Amino acid sequence: MRIGILGTGNMADALGGQWARRGHDVTIGGRDPGRAADLAQRIGARAGTLAEAAGAADVVLLAVPHAALRSVLAAVPLQGRVVIDCTNPVEHGRLTDDRISVADAAPGARVVKAFNLCHVDVWRMTPPVFGGRPLSVPLCGDAVDVVAPLVEDLGCRPVDAGGLDRIGLLEATAAFMIGLWFAGEDAQAVLPPLPA
Ligand SMILES: NC(=O)c1ccc[n+]([C@@H]2O[C@H](COP(=O)([O-])OP(=O)(O)OC[C@H]3O[C@@H](n4cnc5c(N)ncnc54)[C@H](OP(=O)(O)O)[C@@H]3O)[C@@H](O)[C@H]2O)c1
Repeated sequence: MRIGILGTGNMADALGGQWARRGHDVTIGGRDPGRAADLAQRIGARAGTLAEAAGAADVVLLAVPHAALRSVLAAVPLQGRVVIDCTNPVEHGRLTDDRISVADAAPGARVVKAFNLCHVDVWRMTPPVFGGRPLSVPLCGDAVDVVAPLVEDLGCRPVDAGGLDRIGLLEATAAFMIGLWFAGEDAQAVLPPLPA
């Protein structure tokens, strides 16, 4: 698959590295050409501008701060692309007041919220398995079938968690769980396993 990644930071490194190792054609797009080139070289990808990375891709990962989405989406056309949004509109354990709907800000794109629940170190694991169970990754949006194989490439189990209308719930879940983790609690322990 041709994957464009907008951003040159931690999530771009972790997920881009995983997908490049699985043989995908990954292009790292950054506002700083040097950082894009460095990361691309390290993970075995191509480098370009934000627009070049999106233009060369079938699937585009938004790996920038949530607050940067409005300007990035205004500058980079994403029509016809499947867009994975891993951003968290979260500050100090709370949802920010200025939440951006990627589906509204990127007309003509098919948007999936994914990879926002876990810390970047989890996405670097090969594979993320805890207590003998592979990590389940909830996907919300309107191209879940396209993104699901990219979840499997990480050794994880994709979970179809609903459409665009469920994205707010997934973002709120991230805010809640991140708050628990930062408070030193085991967030996974707050829910019983399914058989119970
Ligand atoms: N880190 C985690 O554990 C984690 C887990 C799940 C989800 N997320 C989400 O993933 C997203 C990326 O997180 P990260 O940890 O990868 O962040 P990061 O390491 O700080 O990288 C952010 C990237 O965004 C770029 N950027 C910032 N503002 C920009 C703008 N206005 N226009 C274009 N590019 C801009 C930065 O470019 P420069 O280098 O030029 O500043 C950098 O390449 C965030 O939305 C975060 O909420 C993170």
